Amino acid sequence: MGSWGRSLPGVMLLGLLAVAGCSDNGTDPVAGGGGGATVSFAADVQPIFARRCLACHGVGGNAGLDLSPAVAWANLVGIETTNYAPRQRVMSANPDGSVLYLKLNGDASTGSRMPLGGALDPAMIELVRVWILEGALDN
Ligand code: HEC
Repeated sequence: MGSWGRSLPGVMLLGLLAVAGCSDNGTDPVAGGGGGATVSFAADVQPIFARRCLACHGVGGNAGLDLSPAVAWANLVGIETTNYAPRQRVMSANPDGSVLYLKLNGDASTGSRMPLGGALDPAMIELVRVWILEGALDN
């Protein structure tokens, strides 16, 4: 989807184009329509987890949080935290309601800053913020 811009022989298509571009993708990103997300979970966010989090958040990880590629998204979005219930790990479109984001920032209300013993570059934290704002898609 999202390739409306390519030049097709318009005459042949006149009147034939149904409104077919917007298939249901389940979520509603705040910024832009279906294909409008600027941050990819798989390409942008997951590599941060791989480098900085997996040592403590693999299978059977701390606080029951497994950030392995196959399960990370499902363990985050809309899931209640172990240690800060009823707050959620990631609340779609709401970074400040997401314990993941708050912990990356060292927010006083969510215990230790993550990654434990360090901090991410501001640019990486911003990627996570925008990913959540755009609907925390599994994209
Ligand atoms: C050196 C080990 C270590 C590393 C590295 C680490 N964590 Fe943690 N993490 C912990 C421990 C221990 C806890 C449980 C205590 C707490 O809630 O602060 C935890 C808890 C969490 C929680 C709360 C989960 C819940 O459901 O309560 C989140 C979210 C989290 N970590 C995210 C991350 C992210 C994202 C990274 C990488 C950027 C990361 N952590 C890196 C040790 C680590």
